[in-house]
Amino acid sequence: MTAFKTLDDLGDVTGKVALVRVDLNLPMQDGAVTDDTRIRAALPTINDLTAKGAKVLLLAHFGRPKGERSSTQSLSMVVGAVEKVIGKEVMFVPEIYGDVVKQAVGILGPGGVAILENTRFWKGEEKNDPELVKLIAENADFYVNDAFSAAHRAHATTEGLAHVLPAYAGRSMEAELKALEKALGEPERPVAAVVGGAKVSSKLDVLKHLVTLVDHLIIGGGMANTFLAARGVKVGKSLCEHDLASVADEIMANAEASGCTVHLPYEVVVSKEFMANPPSLRTCNVHEVAEDEMILDAGPAAVESLSDALKTCKTLVWNGPLGAFEMVPFDAATVALAKTAAALTKEGSLVSVAGGGDTVAALNLAGVSDDFTYISTAGGAFLEWMEGKELPGVAALEK
Ligand code: 3PG
Repeated sequence: MTAFKTLDDLGDVTGKVALVRVDLNLPMQDGAVTDDTRIRAALPTINDLTAKGAKVLLLAHFGRPKGERSSTQSLSMVVGAVEKVIGKEVMFVPEIYGDVVKQAVGILGPGGVAILENTRFWKGEEKNDPELVKLIAENADFYVNDAFSAAHRAHATTEGLAHVLPAYAGRSMEAELKALEKALGEPERPVAAVVGGAKVSSKLDVLKHLVTLVDHLIIGGGMANTFLAARGVKVGKSLCEHDLASVADEIMANAEASGCTVHLPYEVVVSKEFMANPPSLRTCNVHEVAEDEMILDAGPAAVESLSDALKTCKTLVWNGPLGAFEMVPFDAATVALAKTAAALTKEGSLVSVAGGGDTVAALNLAGVSDDFTYISTAGGAFLEWMEGKELPGVAALEK
C-alpha cells in the first residue's frame, strides 16, 4: 500500500490553520439535510484536529453549480447539521480565499471550526487552476484530505492543494484506503464480487477489471439480463442492452481465462408489470421467461446457491443491487444475500466491503449495514476504485 502522512505525523499544531477537504455533498430536501453520514465520517478528523488546537477550515463542494454562485447550493445550508454532529458552534465564511477568510481565521480560536463556501462556485476549482490553489493555500498552514468520495476528481481542493501545502490523509480517508486495500489490494482468497444495477454500460470497466482479480463474480440486476441474452437466453421485455452482447461475451471469455467463475441467475422472479406486488408475479427457471414478462429479481433457489458460493469465500466486495430492490418483493434477493454476507462477517469468516449510493440504501433496507466490515461513503470514487483506476486525490497524498 502506498504510504501517506496521516494526522499522527502532525507536530504541534496549536493555533495553526488546517484546510480540511471533506465531502458535504449531502442529500437534502426542502433545505434540510436528510442523511448526515458524510458529516459523521468527517467527525474523527475534525475532533482530532480541534483537540490538537488547530483552527479548522472545512472545504467542500455541493452539487454541480459550474463555477457560478447559487443561493440554493450555498454550504451555509449545512452549517446547522454540521454543528449538530460535531456538538459545537461552526462559523460560516462565504468565500474560500482572500481577506474575508483571513479575518475569519483571526476570529477563530484554537480548536475553532469554520465552513468555507461551496468550492464549485469558483471556476478554477474543477479546472484545478494553480492560481486558485495558491490563493486558497495562502490562509493556511497545512492541508488534510478526508474526502475519499471526491478523490476521483482532480480539482483544486481535492488534488491541487496537496502539492502546495504539507498534506495529510484524514481519519476517514485513512480508514477507507485501509479497508479497500484489504478488499482488493491484497485480499484473502477466495474473493467474491457482487456487481449489480441496471446497466452493463455503466459498469463495463468495473466488470472488465474484476474478472481478472476475483474468484467469483456475481452479476445481478438488469445487467445480468444482458449477459443472459448474450448466451441465447430469451429475456422477454426485461431491461437488456442487446447491443452489448459481444462485450458481455468478451467479459465471460476473459473471466474463464483468469479462472473467475461468473454467476448469473438460473432462476428468476418475473412479472408483466413494473410495479410493487404485481398480479402477474411468478418465479421460474431462467429459460422459461415469456415474451411479455420482465426479469425483476433473482429467485430464491438462485440466491441460495449464491449464498453457498459466498460461504466458501474470505473476501467480498459489493456494488449494486441484485434486483429492482426499490419495489417489493424485488428486494428479496438483495436482502437475502446481504444477510448471508452480514452473518458470515459477524462469524469472522468474511471481510465484506460495500460501496455506492444504491448499494448502501439496499444494505440499509436489509438492516445489515452495521454488520459489514466496511461501508464506503463513496459513489463514483468507489466505482473508479473498482475499475482499478488511480484516484488523483489519493495519488497526490503519496509521500
Ligand atoms: C459524490 O457525491 O459522489 C461526491 O461528492 C462527488 O460528487 P460529483 O460526482 O459531483 O463530483
